[in-house]
Amino acid sequence: MPNQPPTAIAEKPAGFLRAFRDDTIGTFGEIQRKYGDIVRMRFFGPLHSYVFYHPDHFKHILVDNNKNYSKMPAPSFVVMQPLVGKGLLTSDGDFWLRQRRLAQPAFHRKRLADFGRIMTSATTNMLDSWQPNQSFDIQAAMNLLTLEIVGKTLFGIDLVQDGGKIYDAVDLAGESIVKLSTNPLGMLAVRVPFVPTTRKLNEAVSVIDQVIDRIIAERRADPTDHGDLLSMFMLAEDEETGERMNDRQLRDEVQTMVLAGHETTALLLTWAFYLLAQHPDEYKCVLAEIDAELGSRTVTLDDLPNLTYIDQVLNETMRLYPPAYTMARYCNEPDVIAGYDIAGKSVISLSTYHLHRHPDFWPNAEQFDPERFSAENSKSRHRFAFLPFGAGPRQCIGNRFAMMEAVLILVTVLQRFKLQVAAGYVPELEPQITLRPKNGIPVSVTPR
Ligand code: HEM
Repeated sequence: MPNQPPTAIAEKPAGFLRAFRDDTIGTFGEIQRKYGDIVRMRFFGPLHSYVFYHPDHFKHILVDNNKNYSKMPAPSFVVMQPLVGKGLLTSDGDFWLRQRRLAQPAFHRKRLADFGRIMTSATTNMLDSWQPNQSFDIQAAMNLLTLEIVGKTLFGIDLVQDGGKIYDAVDLAGESIVKLSTNPLGMLAVRVPFVPTTRKLNEAVSVIDQVIDRIIAERRADPTDHGDLLSMFMLAEDEETGERMNDRQLRDEVQTMVLAGHETTALLLTWAFYLLAQHPDEYKCVLAEIDAELGSRTVTLDDLPNLTYIDQVLNETMRLYPPAYTMARYCNEPDVIAGYDIAGKSVISLSTYHLHRHPDFWPNAEQFDPERFSAENSKSRHRFAFLPFGAGPRQCIGNRFAMMEAVLILVTVLQRFKLQVAAGYVPELEPQITLRPKNGIPVSVTPR
């Protein structure tokens, strides 16, 4: 007899999916409180799913036995395929490894310095348009900024020039993907064009495709090396066959970087501005560090090692509000985790949001306290208790890019403006593909 982990059984066939759709984070939390750190979930028929919350289990799945845990066909990746195809985020095996090796050099340190200049200059341009006492949604502002940055740094293109057309389409596509991933028939529905959610998804994808196809066509017409990620992908040749990537593969990789590489960082910044506005003492420490290390001088990549408190603030922000709040896998062969049998051909969810608030590793977990991430306080912590960028071979390829971008934007904004959130405003969580505040976060700004 298999030694099953504690099992949560939905009262109605689609009960869990409905609960996850209505309140993903609350449902994960409730299941953990009731059943513990490994929970088996019965949906209907033979479909098994497991949720994990403990750092040892994250380590096992993402690192030690990662070969047994693929991305496909986990439902949340299947429903992403119309948008990102077989790009880095959703592919597996040798194909994924080849693409990962091709993309890696675009994120090396010597490239990051050039990216830094683009990041600060885009931020300065944005700030030039901010008016004293103006109120606006900081999440929307950060989204546009990071979309512009990912386009310019990795592909040498201006993704916001089309008046936010791509921005709206990515948003709409994300919404449809989340709807499909919490629908019991979503994996089938995504293949049926007349299902309303699938139709919406396909319409959004075709808007994005038009822009990306144009970019690829322009590059094909001028195939010299532009020194960016798009050129790396276009000029790379398969070692054995000499073949180059076709337009479809290029489109998938561009789409993947656009999806994975902008809203995540925008949310880190949004939540950081929100938390700082709520915590005046920590806000003061951030300003003191900026004044001591930089004054009004433009911040660069070389300043990062000296901005340790800001780094702690960003880490503490991602602990409380991890932009990638959950990770999914497909368990291929049966496995044993913490003495429990895990069935093969099952769907795995890793709840990063709850990992980051696990009471055994995070005392007063709800409290914002950047001191947790001081060198001293981090020493004895479990290495897998904090995983905003994942772990193992599938760890985020853009982690250093994102941290640099977040520091440069945060500093550049705070050098010039003070941000305030309306008194008493409490954002509601809206877990879409990433962890958003529902309806954004309204701020008002005054020059410093
Ligand atoms: C704060 C910002 C970011 C966060 C929190 C974040 C988080 C993550 C996480 C958790 C994963 C692993 C998912 C898994 O194992 O299932 C991931 C993968 C990935 N991220 Fe990020 N990310 C961020 C920024 C970026 C940026 C800026 C880029 C690109 C410019 C990027 C591109 C990617 C790609 C392509 C993958 C797939 C890598 C692979 O499987 O080889 N991310 N990200």
